[in-house]
Amino acid sequence: MLKQELIGLEEALRWERKEIRDYYSRYINPGFTTLLSLLDFDRRFVRAEGTSVWDSEGRQYLDFLGGYGALNLGHNPPKVLAALERVAQRPNLLQASLNPLAAALAHNLAKVTPGDLEKVFFGNSGTEAVEGALKLARAATGRVKIVYCENSFHGKTFGSLSVTGRQKYQKPFVPLLPGCEAIPFNDLDALEAKLAPRDVAAFIVEPIQGEGGVNVPDDGYLRGAREICDKYGTLLIFDEVQTGFGRTGYLFACEHENVVPDIMCLAKSLGGGIVPIGAYIARPSVWKKAYGGTERCLLHTSTFGGNTLAMAAGLTALAETVEQDLSRQAAEKGRYLLEKLKEMQGKYKLLKEVRGRGLLIGLEFEQPVKGILDRLTGGKINELTKEYFGGLVAGELMHKYHIITAYTLNNPNVIRLEPPLIVKYEELDKVINALEQILKASHSFLGMALSGTRTALGSILRLRA
Ligand SMILES: Cc1ncc(COP(=O)(O)O)c(C=O)c1O
Repeated sequence: MLKQELIGLEEALRWERKEIRDYYSRYINPGFTTLLSLLDFDRRFVRAEGTSVWDSEGRQYLDFLGGYGALNLGHNPPKVLAALERVAQRPNLLQASLNPLAAALAHNLAKVTPGDLEKVFFGNSGTEAVEGALKLARAATGRVKIVYCENSFHGKTFGSLSVTGRQKYQKPFVPLLPGCEAIPFNDLDALEAKLAPRDVAAFIVEPIQGEGGVNVPDDGYLRGAREICDKYGTLLIFDEVQTGFGRTGYLFACEHENVVPDIMCLAKSLGGGIVPIGAYIARPSVWKKAYGGTERCLLHTSTFGGNTLAMAAGLTALAETVEQDLSRQAAEKGRYLLEKLKEMQGKYKLLKEVRGRGLLIGLEFEQPVKGILDRLTGGKINELTKEYFGGLVAGELMHKYHIITAYTLNNPNVIRLEPPLIVKYEELDKVINALEQILKASHSFLGMALSGTRTALGSILRLRA
């Protein structure tokens, strides 16, 4: 291999859209490349700051996708960048030592999380946080079974996938982890029935389901789950990977009901949107049963877990989250946005439901009525829009209004609004106005499908046929 055959950083930074598509398609994922190209989403973005990104033609876009909840502080928060610079000369990895920054971040997480959560494991992603939590639950209880919720999303590695309640993601990979059983979300009777035989290690649940379509449980659900878990000796795992660090108007969504889990999973915004970090934090008594003593202390580890760059980013991101009172910001701005959207829901039939808490908001659209397009395409449009209607609205927002959004992974008919928590009220208004224009212009689905997204829709139809 000659050095000249390798593509250098500067060259890749200069690439135009076509080269990016070609290389991405060939070397990473042709299907995804096609999908993004057809939707014309694959702009060449060259700069990002706060709530905005800019493409190579100088156009500014408002980011209401927010890195799926990883950008609570916005893009490239200056203090996190400065922290990385500050530790640039330190060893990033030296596993045969104790990293002071890891110990400091673990201390701070113990201070900000509720109750007596104290023992931290650091990994590198949300799914790794979940894997760690599942293993801890089994090792601490000596039980095998894990109960999870339908429509949940906990990640895509084998363990996390085994407790992710969507058939589409699970099916190609069976058999998954044995002993994982699903129950409906927000159903305490179903939970009690599963836990009653006293053989379940853990119940894992998102305090608000994110990828399931932003599903907020009834008040009392989390508290009820806590009581049932206590009754049958099952550990309670809250997955706060997406809801954590202020997103829902509380530092952690479980604070809405003042419920403390045995294990909490964290990731996304913990790394300030720059460095990946996944972590769990557990009650000391639970952790000790699994990993206490020198014999068992290395049963669960990760090469990059607790590296200096990640810990510097985490320390700074958490300090900024607290200092800027992002939870309060999310609560206030979320209330404003939700109220405006609910008004809109009353006006437009197409907007079936608006739900959420803080700045984790889902817009669910009505399945478009069978119409002319449906007849023209022999029913295919209806089949397609069932899955991709949210995507069409996201397309209009992107192309006409330069607002980036996306549908939720488990429920493509729900668009999420999940901007950085530092978003300005004018920016919220911009999104509200754009949605109003779109809904006004598309009394029927036809209007929207016939505007800019028609070509893409046609191509997807051909692609899937
Ligand atoms: C609640 C929840 N848990 C876990 C994950 C997985 O995180 P990652 O994609 O970092 O593995 C996600 C990702 O969206 C999530 O929303």
